Amino acid sequence: MTGIQIDTITAASRKRKVHIETWGCQMNIADSERMLALLEANNYELSRDGAETADLILLNTCHIREKARHKVLSRLGALNELKAKNPDLRIAVAGCVAQADGKKLIEQAPQIDVLIGPGKIDELPGLLRENMATGQSVVATGFDRHARDENDVGREAVSDDPVLHIPSVSGKPEVTRFVNIIQGCNNFCTFCVVPFTRGREISRAKDEILREVEYMVRNGAREITLLGQNVNSYGLDLMGRDDVPEDGGPFVDLLSSVAQLKGLERLRFTTSNPHDFTRPLARLFASQPKMGRHIHLPVQSGSNTVLDRMRRKVTVEQYLERINWLREEVPAIAISTDLIVGFPGETEEEFEDTLRLMSAVRFAFIFAFKYSSRRGTAAARFAGQISESVKVERLNRLNAIQDVITAEMVANEVGRTKDVLFIYESRKYPGIWVGRTKEYRSVRVNSSANLLGMTLPVRLTSGNKVAMLGELVN
Ligand code: 5AD
Ligand code: SF4
Repeated sequence: MTGIQIDTITAASRKRKVHIETWGCQMNIADSERMLALLEANNYELSRDGAETADLILLNTCHIREKARHKVLSRLGALNELKAKNPDLRIAVAGCVAQADGKKLIEQAPQIDVLIGPGKIDELPGLLRENMATGQSVVATGFDRHARDENDVGREAVSDDPVLHIPSVSGKPEVTRFVNIIQGCNNFCTFCVVPFTRGREISRAKDEILREVEYMVRNGAREITLLGQNVNSYGLDLMGRDDVPEDGGPFVDLLSSVAQLKGLERLRFTTSNPHDFTRPLARLFASQPKMGRHIHLPVQSGSNTVLDRMRRKVTVEQYLERINWLREEVPAIAISTDLIVGFPGETEEEFEDTLRLMSAVRFAFIFAFKYSSRRGTAAARFAGQISESVKVERLNRLNAIQDVITAEMVANEVGRTKDVLFIYESRKYPGIWVGRTKEYRSVRVNSSANLLGMTLPVRLTSGNKVAMLGELVN
């Protein structure tokens, strides 16, 4: 059974409608787009009016924290009603909850027809056919991807020529697109489920990535974000080594090649692990004019003892060294980070180390999370689990400090002129165009002209932590 075979039940009839809901990280957005590409090649099209009229509802799920998992379960409950009204409706659950829970999730939610983990995406059309033929729920999880190497059904299914035709989940051409370059993670930070839900690192071939980016740029993309849980280790699996070579290795080489592509204006990547962050990578921000002037470099904690318990493999001092490399190359670079509060055993003193790090680095923005215990991870078994009330209190203190830093940074931007790449027009307020500076700040301007995809100088007039307002400079 291959992905190119058209569904015999529907080949002669109308196209089936698929409605996709995506939670979690950008990896999931990229995975949803790939699943849509596979479905489009198998007689499906995106439902224009949501879940109500869909033949297939695909939930692409996130498992990173318990709250994310709860959302999936409550959404499945709501979909039960739709399924009662339309017994032909198919429900597929993809993503990290599917991988982590497997068959157990179907026992809890028997309305699921297809359960498919992130390592089995290419099997989606075949699984749907199997479910339709047998009426039984089907499950595919795990990370056995040998079939994908020898016979990449996804690539064949979506294209007759050597280009990967990956549509956007919005169904429209998009100015900014994500391209997956590496799956999985080998790091096993003690709090994190990702190595369990997405498996070990597997890099995509460089030429395949370049073709996908070329296709997206030809179809209107101006900004590309290369994606992975750990982009810095791109290509190490292909080379058979564990550490990044001193010259920056395959990731720096890939970025340099992607940056050459004509029509591409901005290049970004996420997520970068400080452990594998090299000096040549920092240099690239200065030498490649297309590189965004922003990096997301998760530190998680400002305490060396906590970092050690998290098994992050870098110290605070090493993290600061990397920030220095970046700021030496591009003094105005915006740096964002992820922080976890209430990791098992975190003392008040250790928590305050994180506050001190924030004041020392002055992040442009942060994503701060309360530690969430994940079954199967090492930290779930650690002594000294922290109470919810302490986590909430620490999260609030941390966010309050960041709010002050952000407000100062925003005030400092007012009056400056920045190049803004416009990515969409507000649906609610037509004439309001939303774009981003190279430093990843969101900017809104009022214009009757179509600014989509253009990079234009904008004078920033005011702003808050969400977005800045500005005027086009003629
Ligand atoms: N609890 C809280 N936050 C977590 N993250 C990952 N796992 C957990 C967890 N168990 C956060 C980290 C990571 C981001 C994607 O999610 O900060 O960088
Ligand atoms: Fe999770 Fe650590 Fe891998 Fe990031 S580097 S995905 S936090 S295990």
